[in-house]
Amino acid sequence: MVGTGYVGLVTGACFAEMGHHVICLDINKEKIDQLNQGMIPIYEPGLEEVVKRNIDSGRLLFTSDYAEAVKNSSVCFIAVPTPSDEDGSCDLSYVLQAATSIAEHMNEYKVIVVKSTVPVGTSLKVKAKINEKTTLPFDLVSNPEFLKEGSAILDCMKPDRVILGVESEKSVAIMKEIYSAFTLNHDRILVMDILSSEMTKYAANAMLATRISFMNELATICEKLGANINEVRIGIGSDQRIGYQFLYAGIGYGGSCFPKDIRALQSMAFDAGLETPLMDAVDSINNNQKKLLFKKISAYFGDVKGKTIAIWGLAFKPNTDDMREAPALVLIEELLKQGAVLRVYDPVAMPKAKSLFNDPRIHFCKDEYDAAEGAHAIALVTEWKQFRFADFEKIFPSMQKKVFFDGRNQYKKQEMHAKGFEYFGIGH
Ligand SMILES: NC(=O)c1ccc[n+]([C@@H]2O[C@H](COP(=O)([O-])OP(=O)(O)OC[C@H]3O[C@@H](n4cnc5c(N)ncnc54)[C@H](O)[C@@H]3O)[C@@H](O)[C@H]2O)c1
Repeated sequence: MVGTGYVGLVTGACFAEMGHHVICLDINKEKIDQLNQGMIPIYEPGLEEVVKRNIDSGRLLFTSDYAEAVKNSSVCFIAVPTPSDEDGSCDLSYVLQAATSIAEHMNEYKVIVVKSTVPVGTSLKVKAKINEKTTLPFDLVSNPEFLKEGSAILDCMKPDRVILGVESEKSVAIMKEIYSAFTLNHDRILVMDILSSEMTKYAANAMLATRISFMNELATICEKLGANINEVRIGIGSDQRIGYQFLYAGIGYGGSCFPKDIRALQSMAFDAGLETPLMDAVDSINNNQKKLLFKKISAYFGDVKGKTIAIWGLAFKPNTDDMREAPALVLIEELLKQGAVLRVYDPVAMPKAKSLFNDPRIHFCKDEYDAAEGAHAIALVTEWKQFRFADFEKIFPSMQKKVFFDGRNQYKKQEMHAKGFEYFGIGH
């Protein structure tokens, strides 16, 4: 498993859990040292247990040595980052570097699997890189990953589907053998051509992001016309063709996938001479949505200079410490620009947040109650379960002003009013 991040570590650990022998490789030596000491560098529910169990069983090894990892493996998965370049296109340098390093250490036939999310046609570039370094035979497979941070172990152990983009029967047989243990209950392995496989990943993320931006646009209309987006969600979700999932209005999507994958899809189409009016709208609605909570707070106070704002939740979603492109980042930056003082808290993302911000106006608090202490307002950014049943009576006396900005529609307006708060949600 080349790349031991959110995807590589989880997938490697789950493969080992199913009885495969896995070597997780990373160029980040510090990370590998930590893992070899049983320390897990990311927060992912259930991961630590699986990693430790499989280290103990001897099926899961960690190394920074390409020679050791490649020579002792028959299949090499590439799970390295594919971030946005400055122009929004996908930066393939990590993937191509990983492919080159694998090729340099090949000793016999290998299946080389691209698990990273890569633009349609990347397989050709990866093959060319490998062929520059070796004449040994190999098969390339595209196997995009669909796990969700926060429930990654479950997603990996029980995948909705396994997509395999292939060019040879031999590689199909090997890949099916690897994944058969995960799909014993019923076959969910879908075999297709590589280009379609690469596109399937972008299509899935674009569809989900579209649902979110669709609901956010409706939320803005609801708010203006006096309707309630929460009621509308239930009203349309009950239609089986629509369903309830991914229909929540809020302050936009973030994370390491949706934003960059939408940009990469736009860029792919642009390079092919096509326009993407739908994706452009999805992206622009989301960028505006991320500023919405700040706009509501500043509209309420007129001027936030010197106001203390408590921020509940920093990660881009609950059950992860990932803050990449998190809506909290936009809110924090805007509030600081306007001279606010911040008291922030997240159940697991505090170390990440501390590494990102070094500003004396940000106070890192020990819990949500500590964050609310002396604040003029609370802004809920990430819908962690523990915030749902916060003891508002405990919070109330310690606040300078009782205003609540609910960026994830976690509370009912009437109930918050009854508790003495002025309350502002999204789309109602
Ligand atoms: N995070 C998710 O939820 C998720 C879900 C599905 C797909 N993906 C995709 O999976 C890929 C990996 O994402 P991630 O979130 O796991 O990234 P990550 O940043 O958490 O981890 C990537 C790891 O790769 C290592 N790395 C970089 N270059 C390397 C090289 N040349 N050789 C070996 N290791 C190298 C890095 O040190 C890092 O530890 C991306 O393409 C992403 O779009 C991510």
